[in-house]
Amino acid sequence: MEHTPAPTGAPDPRRLDREASPSPDPVSGPGRADGLEAEPAAAVIVFGDALDRVRDFANQLALRGEELGLIGPLELPRLWTRHIVNSGLVAPLVAPGALVGDVGSGAGLPGLVLAIARPDARFVLIEPMERRTDWLRSEADRLGLENVEVVRARAEDAPYAERLDQVTARAVSALRTLIPSVVPLVRRGGELILMKGVRVEEERQAAAKQIAKARLTNIEILTLGDGVTPEVTRVFRAIVG
Ligand SMILES: C[S@@+](CC[C@H](N)C(=O)[O-])C[C@H]1O[C@@H](n2cnc3c(N)ncnc32)[C@H](O)[C@@H]1O
Repeated sequence: MEHTPAPTGAPDPRRLDREASPSPDPVSGPGRADGLEAEPAAAVIVFGDALDRVRDFANQLALRGEELGLIGPLELPRLWTRHIVNSGLVAPLVAPGALVGDVGSGAGLPGLVLAIARPDARFVLIEPMERRTDWLRSEADRLGLENVEVVRARAEDAPYAERLDQVTARAVSALRTLIPSVVPLVRRGGELILMKGVRVEEERQAAAKQIAKARLTNIEILTLGDGVTPEVTRVFRAIVG
């Protein structure tokens, strides 16, 4: 697999700039959960036609996420920017028609957000905690997402050996741990799309042995969302050799 370019018609957050942004009026709308961050202008750029469903998911997460232990009490005022838009930034990296595993989906980040944004791909959400898999299943049903399967397992035990075209993960573990646990799930020539924080370069250096052992090639570190949203995301992207 070559690295995937943004599909035709989908916004490429690496190229979006402020001139492309619509008016920055936040959408507040009726029925918005108390304390939820107003929807930022970036949401329409990142999600386009999928925004109504993403909005529904964000609101439900804001209403129930704390009670279910999915998000902390401090997350509501930054839910859109830090979590929802941030997750959506990787949507253009999903290959058309791909079978994508999202390891450690938790509340559905980025897995459910990507499944809404990319109905042309199929998503397997791999998450070991029952309370979280219950939430993921109920949200996939409620939102009518037919491209989602939820598997309760650790990545190391998930029954997908060498079957996935792409793997995503966000806030699961450092690259030196994450790479050996996700690579066995990916077919040869498939791709890792691992969302990381500002220390991604240090993590990459610390994972040199694991990267060599997994025979990763075409390694790139991308910064997505610059000029679109204040919370850019960094992605460690590589092909499994
Ligand atoms: C900090 S949470 C992040 C959740 C979500 N990805 C996000 O960005 O909000 C880490 C998640 O990874 C899951 N997890 C930890 N180790 C895992 C493993 N080996 N395989 C699959 N999931 C794992 C945890 O159960 C938890 O839901």
